Amino acid sequence: MKFFVDTANLSQIIEAKELGILDGATTNPSLMAKEGVKGKNNIFKHYAAICDIVQNDVSAEVISTDFEGMIKEAEELVSISEHIVVKIPMIKDGIKAIRHLSDRGIKTNCTLVFSTGQAILAAKAGATYLSPFIGRINDITWDGIELIKEIAEVYSIQLYDTEILAASIRSPRQIVECAKYGADVVTSPLKSILGLLNHPLTDIGLEKFLDDHRNM
Ligand code: E4P
Repeated sequence: MKFFVDTANLSQIIEAKELGILDGATTNPSLMAKEGVKGKNNIFKHYAAICDIVQNDVSAEVISTDFEGMIKEAEELVSISEHIVVKIPMIKDGIKAIRHLSDRGIKTNCTLVFSTGQAILAAKAGATYLSPFIGRINDITWDGIELIKEIAEVYSIQLYDTEILAASIRSPRQIVECAKYGADVVTSPLKSILGLLNHPLTDIGLEKFLDDHRNM
């Protein structure tokens, strides 16, 4: 399973990259706003800075919701860097845009996915990545991991090429479950990725080894 970091914060992206396990990054308009990046020029510069660090797929989301607008934005976004993946919302014009971009060899990430039906449509349209939102499904008391399981089953039966990119991750445990149930990629805040490191027995064991060495 590939690891993407889900943030627009440059120092967190650098920290994830330095860990040596980073395969890509995802952003969205809310994450960009959180970093205080405003205005088209600054937003494009920020995407370029993220691409320079990651040196691999970086999802940048369109703001338009009509076909023509999305295509225009997509063309501008891919001119920033070869690493840009255009993030397109799961709406009717979005599906048309994914088909159009995919036919022209432009990578896409279909976002705001909450059902297997949506996942089938995105795969049929040729999306490179599909982003089911695990945490937001759990927020309304459904089960995001069940959705990953069903999509993974359907994609494997139908031999779809689209990669399942589990998004809206809220805990290290969800990363483990995504790996267990067939996500191809997980995009997560750095905190949950670092949370995978933690185990009290590791800390106790290390303390004991170091103590014994000191008392030798
Ligand atoms: C990433 O691609 C998604 O936009 C992001 O994971 C959404 O996460 P949230 O539900 O925590 O906002």
